[in-house]
Amino acid sequence: MSLLSVENLTLQFRTDEGLITAVDDISFTLGRGEVMGLVGESGSGKSVTAKALMMLNAPNAVYGADSRITLHLDDGDVDVLALRRARDMRVVRGGAVSMIFQEPMASFAPALTIGSQMVEQLQVHTDLSKAQARELSVEMLNRVGISDASTRFNQYAFELSGGMRQRAMIAMALSTRPRLLIADEPTTALDVTIQAQVIQLMQELVKDFGMGIIFITHDLGVVAQTADNVSVMYLGRMVETGPVREVLRRPAHPYTQGLLDALPKLDDLDAPLRPVPGDIPSPLERPSGCVFHTRCDRALPQTCATTAPIWTQTGPEHRLACHLSEGEHCA
Ligand SMILES: Nc1ncnc2c1ncn2[C@@H]1O[C@H](COP(=O)(O)OP(=O)(O)O)[C@@H](O)[C@H]1O
Ligand SMILES: [Mg+2]
Repeated sequence: MSLLSVENLTLQFRTDEGLITAVDDISFTLGRGEVMGLVGESGSGKSVTAKALMMLNAPNAVYGADSRITLHLDDGDVDVLALRRARDMRVVRGGAVSMIFQEPMASFAPALTIGSQMVEQLQVHTDLSKAQARELSVEMLNRVGISDASTRFNQYAFELSGGMRQRAMIAMALSTRPRLLIADEPTTALDVTIQAQVIQLMQELVKDFGMGIIFITHDLGVVAQTADNVSVMYLGRMVETGPVREVLRRPAHPYTQGLLDALPKLDDLDAPLRPVPGDIPSPLERPSGCVFHTRCDRALPQTCATTAPIWTQTGPEHRLACHLSEGEHCA
């Protein structure tokens, strides 16, 4: 059962230098209980895509006329991009959809205790009484492994350690039992050991709550551990998508192959690291044709610089947008 469909999402920003394209015609669906990893180097458009799902982008964002984001909830479909008024937005923000960020300080108001913010959010989105909301909040803090939760409940975000703050943010995001959780680089700023704990925690919570998760990261190792399916973005385009094991074992797009080649291999520490050559071009100077052609060592003369590739199938659910595989298909 589908929980979310994104169709032809195009997102530009008005700036002093002109319109910049941050997301260029991407489409994907997410099922209930499915974890989708969204990967790509910094600047590829992952965060703005995530924010679009909650209408959280800055006011200079311009959505393409064909763009559609639909949440399929139990009591009907929600056309997210049509939500304009704050009242309508409540269904999505902090209710059916929750988001956790890399920087947990951003999620908490500095002058309010963790607990009062959790209680307030619950009272906005549920029918719970204040006492019930308090009880549930402490229970959620407990659930994410915060010891002495009733004391922490009365503390401010700055009084908690980084890892604990991250857990508190997850507790707050999940207390309303969202159908969709968007986690934008939730473990990037954490030590590896705490990162492993947070990932394990999220896996348990998916199992218990059965929600859909979009897990954004630039770390393919984290994706391998957490996601069912993965989509790879580059400069606002989606270039490859499929079941996580398949994409990581048999990456088909030169960009995905490049990301994997750039990782250290634990079974062959002498193998040289090969970073993807060159830098991501500025969004003000988006390459024509395939956006990756300026960094692709297998780019076909003419074709790749002039024509955008179409999607082709390389496995039952494994697809990519690359002229090289179109060629294979034709041959
Ligand atoms: N409000 C904004 N105004 C102008 N450009 C923006 C705005 N928000 C994001 N962008 C641009 O959109 C592009 C994609 O950014 P982002 O989604 O944050 O990338 P990622 O999360 O993949 O690192 C970047 O080039 C970024 O500078
Ligand atoms: Mg980001």
